[in-house]
Amino acid sequence: MTSTIADGTTSGGLPVPPRRLKFTHDRWMESLGLPIHSGYYIEDLRALTLGRWEERGCDAAFIQLEGQQGITETRISEVPARAVLPPVRLAFDEVVFVAQGRGATTIWRPGGERKSFEWGENSMFLLPRHHFHQFSNTSGSRPARLLHYNYFPLLLSASPDPQAFITTHRDDLASPGYVVDLEALYAEPALKQIALEDVSWKRRGAVWVGSFFPDMSAWDKLTETRNRGAGGRSVAMEFPGSEISCHMSMFPPRTYKKAHRHGPGRAIVIPAGEGYSVMWEEGKDKVIAPWRPGSLITPPNKWFHQHFNVGMSPARYLAFHPPLQFDGHAEKVEDRARDQIEYVDEDPSVRRMFEAELAKRGLTSVIPDEAYTRRDYEFAPVAI
Ligand SMILES: [Fe+2]
Repeated sequence: MTSTIADGTTSGGLPVPPRRLKFTHDRWMESLGLPIHSGYYIEDLRALTLGRWEERGCDAAFIQLEGQQGITETRISEVPARAVLPPVRLAFDEVVFVAQGRGATTIWRPGGERKSFEWGENSMFLLPRHHFHQFSNTSGSRPARLLHYNYFPLLLSASPDPQAFITTHRDDLASPGYVVDLEALYAEPALKQIALEDVSWKRRGAVWVGSFFPDMSAWDKLTETRNRGAGGRSVAMEFPGSEISCHMSMFPPRTYKKAHRHGPGRAIVIPAGEGYSVMWEEGKDKVIAPWRPGSLITPPNKWFHQHFNVGMSPARYLAFHPPLQFDGHAEKVEDRARDQIEYVDEDPSVRRMFEAELAKRGLTSVIPDEAYTRRDYEFAPVAI
């Protein structure tokens, strides 16, 4: 993959990732013989080359972007038109984002209740651990593509026996002791307020908790986020009983967010909008990742990254988070400045490139000059 969106900001190619050790999860992926797509970003999940995964009865591919290794797994699976895939049970939570198509999922526990729900493009849902799940495609003509996200690599580092965590035989009725009320689990997402003084919790403030979010391109329960600039809005989400969490940011057309950095293993998908992200390790070459619906990006560990909206409509990015131990944010408030670059401090080439990209589309930036000269400049809340 090479960047095509702008000239002169990469030095002839993408930075070469460091050599690293192989983990059990790497060896497991290789043993399956499926494509393993690597690099810094995937421009279009809908066009990604897949291979046959007989055990799961579908075509699939792994995506291991830089910084995910040994921490989080992402993969694509395809449900052919009108098909029903075989049931699978995982011993770990997995979150699914629908990159293309529509269909249904049934969840059950041997001897327990069943729960079915329908999904469409940009739906997001939880597959709870120790429960079977089964996918079907309800379209007569179009394959569905699902993006899966989980923490399986960490599980395999602790207990290197992949098959112990995956059940593909419907007649295996042995059921570990995780019992949940499926009706309650898949109820409407609910708002939870996390007390500011509760430092033990994952996030502070408002969090939406649910197992099924029907359309992340239309989810409108967002709150203003002042600290990252551009007059953006965001929402934090958690899945009941799971450590997996995510957030989504939405920011206006012809603006861009401040650069920031944190830990590895996030996976970012685009429910709406057109733009690009620039990612770089301090002092090193930059990677430019163009995006639109269907794109996936992962900022590598502690690399700065910055998101730019060059479209005519608000852009949304949905970021799945690694386990908290990889959060990687500066722990002290006074350290935060090391992990975010204010507009007044950024390299002037950032603004130049953004304005050049807009000009190619006959557009101009709506970030006011004042934002580049006044450190305390605050964007007015934008109705988007
Ligand atoms: Fe980030």
